[in-house]
Amino acid sequence: MRSGLTRRPTAVYTRAMTRRFKVAVVGATGLVGREMLRTLEERAFPVSEIVPLASPRSAGMLVRFAGADVEVQPVSEAAFEGVEVALFSAGAGPSREWCPVAAKAGALVVDNSSAWRMDPDVPLCVPEVNLDAARTRPKGIIANPNCSTIQLVVALKPLHDAAKITRIFVATYQAVSGAGAGAVASLEAQQRQLAAGQPIERGALPGILAGNLLMSWKVDPATLYQEEELKMIYETRKIFGDDTIRVSPTTVRVPVVNGHSEAVTIETERAISPEQARALLALAPGVELMDDFAQGIYPQPRDASGKDAVLVGRIRDDLGRAPGAHGLSLWIVGDNLRKGAALNAVQIAEGLLLGR
Ligand SMILES: NC(=O)c1ccc[n+]([C@@H]2O[C@H](COP(=O)([O-])OP(=O)(O)OC[C@H]3O[C@@H](n4cnc5c(N)ncnc54)[C@H](OP(=O)(O)O)[C@@H]3O)[C@@H](O)[C@H]2O)c1
Repeated sequence: MRSGLTRRPTAVYTRAMTRRFKVAVVGATGLVGREMLRTLEERAFPVSEIVPLASPRSAGMLVRFAGADVEVQPVSEAAFEGVEVALFSAGAGPSREWCPVAAKAGALVVDNSSAWRMDPDVPLCVPEVNLDAARTRPKGIIANPNCSTIQLVVALKPLHDAAKITRIFVATYQAVSGAGAGAVASLEAQQRQLAAGQPIERGALPGILAGNLLMSWKVDPATLYQEEELKMIYETRKIFGDDTIRVSPTTVRVPVVNGHSEAVTIETERAISPEQARALLALAPGVELMDDFAQGIYPQPRDASGKDAVLVGRIRDDLGRAPGAHGLSLWIVGDNLRKGAALNAVQIAEGLLLGR
């Protein structure tokens, strides 16, 4: 039996108050799904009934929500009856199949997978940047961007508004929790094997990550870009509503459990100084400045893990920019399970249904 999950009789969380919503979490036994349950609870999202759904493998298991054990059901058409909000984090295949079913049942659907992100009839939303885009949803589905893209656009939005970003160079240092619960368990096993001098087994990982780095996302044979990199290019453009932004990403998996980091350099149309950028970012929604590098202060994954805010530091002039060109370098760190997935999805529902 997996940690945090037990088998016991059903319990349902209901509370009769003003406007409350029946909420389904699809993928409720996964890393993002469990973070969604925590996030709904912590932010006191008005839930009348929670419906945790997963694959048939998890049927009968229990997840905790609002002080009760709630039984996980296998996803099915009947499970969406009366559901008003459906938050999906079960992978692209199940999302392709079940998001339209949930939308047809009348639910506001927010999907974390890559299934719908580039569909022109599906808004791709980060509330700090483009909540209004989510108000028009021809398919009844709203897509949550890739975790690396979310933290990037949250931090860059105020700089884009002030100076118009024309180009983004980004290298990511992505935590293993971004690849799901199985990948986290496999890294922990690999680290034990490494320390014991034993042969290292891949487990659920595509290679050896303990003491190593991997670039193991699916490769597009035409461009030799990893799919994760292409997501950062096209999702950034869609969210900013600007197809002219040029994005040059390299995505890397690092042996960190949680919290993605990004080394970013931007070119801008108009001049912007590090001081101006700091002043803008200090006031930006969803951003926390951690920028006193001379004193050794800069964001680290351990700082970001468990936090809502995207942390930004190391803001500096880009010494490599061409004469007459404008640009800055910065370091952006965020909790990929939280703002990179669960929190962003819950914020979309809050923005649309509660006006928060
Ligand atoms: N991890 C991140 O930082 C992150 C960030 C942004 C987006 N996402 C996206 O969120 C999704 C989930 O990621 P995760 O990290 O939470 O993965 P995970 O820990 O592996 O969890 C996967 C979840 O999906 C469920 N599931 C798998 N196949 C299913 C099916 N056929 N029908 C119904 N449920 C099914 C699993 O249920 P069982 O337990 O029954 O197998 C489990 O609850 C993925 O699409 C991922 O790309 C993840």
